[in-house]
Amino acid sequence: MIQESEYKNRREAFAKSLKKGSVSVLFSAEYQTRSHDTHYPYRQNSNFYYLCGFTEDRAALVFVKEKKDTKIYLFVYKKEKQEELWNGKRLGKERAKELFDLDDVFDESELTAKLKSFLDTKIKRLYYDFKLDYSKVKLLKRYAKEVECFQNAATIIERMRLIKSDAEIALIKKALHITKTAHHRAMKKVKELEYEYELQAEFEYMFKKQGAQSDAYTSIIASGNNANTLHYIQNSDKIAPDRLILIDAGCEYNYYASDITRTISSSAKFTKAQREIYTLVLDVEKAIIAMVAPNVLRSALQKKAEQLLCQGLVDLGILKGEVQKLLKKEAHKKYFPHGIGHWMGIDVHDQCPYKDTKGKEIPLQKGMVLTIEPGIYIDEHDKTVAKKYRGIGIRIEDDILVTENGYENLSKAIVKEIKDIESLASS
Ligand code: GLY
Ligand code: MN
Ligand code: MN
Repeated sequence: MIQESEYKNRREAFAKSLKKGSVSVLFSAEYQTRSHDTHYPYRQNSNFYYLCGFTEDRAALVFVKEKKDTKIYLFVYKKEKQEELWNGKRLGKERAKELFDLDDVFDESELTAKLKSFLDTKIKRLYYDFKLDYSKVKLLKRYAKEVECFQNAATIIERMRLIKSDAEIALIKKALHITKTAHHRAMKKVKELEYEYELQAEFEYMFKKQGAQSDAYTSIIASGNNANTLHYIQNSDKIAPDRLILIDAGCEYNYYASDITRTISSSAKFTKAQREIYTLVLDVEKAIIAMVAPNVLRSALQKKAEQLLCQGLVDLGILKGEVQKLLKKEAHKKYFPHGIGHWMGIDVHDQCPYKDTKGKEIPLQKGMVLTIEPGIYIDEHDKTVAKKYRGIGIRIEDDILVTENGYENLSKAIVKEIKDIESLASS
């Protein structure tokens, strides 16, 4: 649980970054249409959530900073019998006033009038999330006639989101605990399941069963050559025997993601060729995780991963030539085309900056969480590669916390040694 005092500290830190003579408006997410009049399950906007933890739609958080002090207001949808009959209970402004440590809480119906009055002639600057949909921006701009400068509020919040608090790390650990049980269950059940979507169902069952709200992203259950489509989410194929299955699946627990890939065998036992590629990817993953520490650059992790994978591909005869020359030609990118990892937190690809305001890469610091996820992908039609390796796609992904002196692998309890995967599959 994240306490209101922590949200309050975040709002104060955000307010401190704002220029005097400014108004900032952050809106809650809107329901997304699935088709006609049905909607996807509601998910709060991450930046809005980060500053207040409020999970209803039709809400806004407003910061008014005329001089040094900042007034902070929340707008919430009113409690209304008919609306609650159809769509569920609302918190309402009276209860919100008790729960949130704010200057005031208003009904959302008052937002337009209040914005008009906040955006008076003393206000020269308006902050909002530049990724907002256009109708909301239009509304804001209509009332901001005297405003001379528009700034992106998201940039400030996303910089704050880079460093995770103890409470946030605890939630990521909880998400990973649930994700672990799901991956282990999949490893155990793999031999009895016929279709990729059956495996997906096991994940969704285990996530929900243990109180996760949803998956943090649509699960990738890619058997055989499907693993060579990086964002394969159809999960519709029959699983053939003796094939690998790349499973990239993680739950979201109380707004915190987990992001885990394991690659397992459909027949419980890895073939020799599968084992060779798997061992290369696993060795590289371990080597890169071991490099994680404060002041290390993510680009250094990327470079090292590319070198090691390229060397391994040469050793296996998949790439031919001198490693340095192949790296220069980027020949290895045919088999490892993606990044070594990304920030993770409220979003699976946490929307935090990779560069500072001067465009310089931000080094790792204590409290950051990132994934490490090397992979090798060899298309089944790649005639330049020995037949035994074709159709193999392997990724191994863990979630890593940067600590004071190094790192903590938050997902180390999810098995990834071949012998452990095989032993679960035959148990
Ligand atoms: N699950 C998406 C990723 O690994 O980045
Ligand atoms: Mn990832
Ligand atoms: Mn992933």
